[in-house]
Amino acid sequence: MRARLIAGVLALLLLTCGGVSLATAELLRHFLVGRLDQQLAQAGARYAASLEHAAGAPGTGIPAPGRPDAGADTRAQAPGTFGARLLDGRVTAAGVVDGDADDAEVASGDRPADTDDKVALTAVDGRHLAALPPDGSAHGVRLSALGGYRVRAAAGRDGDVLVTGLPTGPVDATVHKLVMVELLVFGVALAATGIAGTLWVRLSLRPLERVAGTAERVSALSLASGAVALSERVPDEDPRTEVGRVGSAFNRMLGHVEDALAQRHLVEERLRGFAADAGHELRTPLATVRGHAELALRHPGPVPPEVRHSLGRIEAESRRMGAIVEDLLLLARLDAGRPLADDEVDLTRLALDGAADARASAPGHRWRLDLPEEPVIVRGDADRLRQVVANLLANAAAHTPEGTEVTLRLTPDGPWIALGVTDTGPGIEPRLAERVFERFVRGDPARSRTRSAGSTGLGLAIVRAVVDAHGGSVRLASRPGRTEFTALLPAGRD
Ligand SMILES: Nc1ncnc2c1ncn2[C@@H]1O[C@H](COP(=O)(O)OP(=O)(O)O)[C@@H](O)[C@H]1O
Ligand SMILES: [Mg+2]
Repeated sequence: MRARLIAGVLALLLLTCGGVSLATAELLRHFLVGRLDQQLAQAGARYAASLEHAAGAPGTGIPAPGRPDAGADTRAQAPGTFGARLLDGRVTAAGVVDGDADDAEVASGDRPADTDDKVALTAVDGRHLAALPPDGSAHGVRLSALGGYRVRAAAGRDGDVLVTGLPTGPVDATVHKLVMVELLVFGVALAATGIAGTLWVRLSLRPLERVAGTAERVSALSLASGAVALSERVPDEDPRTEVGRVGSAFNRMLGHVEDALAQRHLVEERLRGFAADAGHELRTPLATVRGHAELALRHPGPVPPEVRHSLGRIEAESRRMGAIVEDLLLLARLDAGRPLADDEVDLTRLALDGAADARASAPGHRWRLDLPEEPVIVRGDADRLRQVVANLLANAAAHTPEGTEVTLRLTPDGPWIALGVTDTGPGIEPRLAERVFERFVRGDPARSRTRSAGSTGLGLAIVRAVVDAHGGSVRLASRPGRTEFTALLPAGRD
């Protein structure tokens, strides 16, 4: 914008300067030519008329023998004055007054030979001169030997036409000088305007730059979630300037955004609080239900089989519900950003335990371990990390058919430890894979081995929340025959 403004101003100035110099040059030329025409009128046709006698016999154009060429009357004629005599449209004599023509010498009759010169005119020049109307009006012509001239033609006394001319050379020189001076002055003016304009535009655009700077800083803020401090404001709020209006509108907008973000944060907090409260409230009655079901099942007397079955279902479902509530409470705690334990955790140990548990609960799968020689240590919360391993292995067991090979792998990778669980199962379709880490998102229960029982859609949400809380990240790559979950955790020792 800065460059465009300055370029625009300079272009305008250039146009103006060009117009001014054209106009002044034209005016000056007009004025000078007018004056030349006046001088021409004053000079009259005396010099041209005198050529006749200097040149020789009328009508022949051939100098008479024995008579000097320098016989023309150059008295009071300006140097460069051109004269020609035409008879029947043909030039019979032409001459030009020399630079050192001198009245005193002429008057004394002691005329030097060089007070005027004969001029050889071409046929074209002759035609130009012949075309002049003999009415005394001034015209511009260009003579091949002499250059530009203002000439006027007048009828002579003996039927001839007398042409007198004054050179336009001095006029051209003056105009040229003016144009040169103007070019110099305008060049200096353009350069000065360029420099001063740049400074001025930079100064004027400074408020706009401040607005842009604020906008850039705000756009760099992460507004996606949580409490966001949006304290940036534009300093320019003067409603009388355009930038001030933009600034105050921008500030108002920032205010609205800040309010909306604060509102969102409040709602998030409330929701989280609600989930935590509801979880806590559900824990006790659930424990009571389960306790009573267990108690009733242990009743020594005869219990009808249907009642026993129902009590078994009550006990199992209340146990499942208890697990869901624990998961929800854990997620609520992680959401609230409650600090996790910060211990040295031996991931190798957790992997061995997890694999052993998985082997016991799903003996139909082929379980493999791929661990480095050295124990792999990370910093974090051992119980939560154990849950990550367990959830990933449980999924590999639950959502793949028997006989599937599942590999649990630990790979140190620079500052990261990659914990990978790979299976050779049917894979996760892309549409599900996009959202699989979200809460309560689960695949078609018909495809899973455990059917809907035991499936809540919270397992991977917990995996992600725990890994995020450790400063790591989770990835999923899945195609039929190979599904790989990878959790990247920051290494504990460097
Ligand atoms: N190893 C896997 N192979 C195929 N599908 C999987 C695998 N792991 C997870 N899934 C799919 O992702 C969904 C979400 O998993 P998760 O969050 O653990 O919930 P849940 O296991 O309770 O259904 C599952 O319902 C299942 O459809
Ligand atoms: Mg699961």
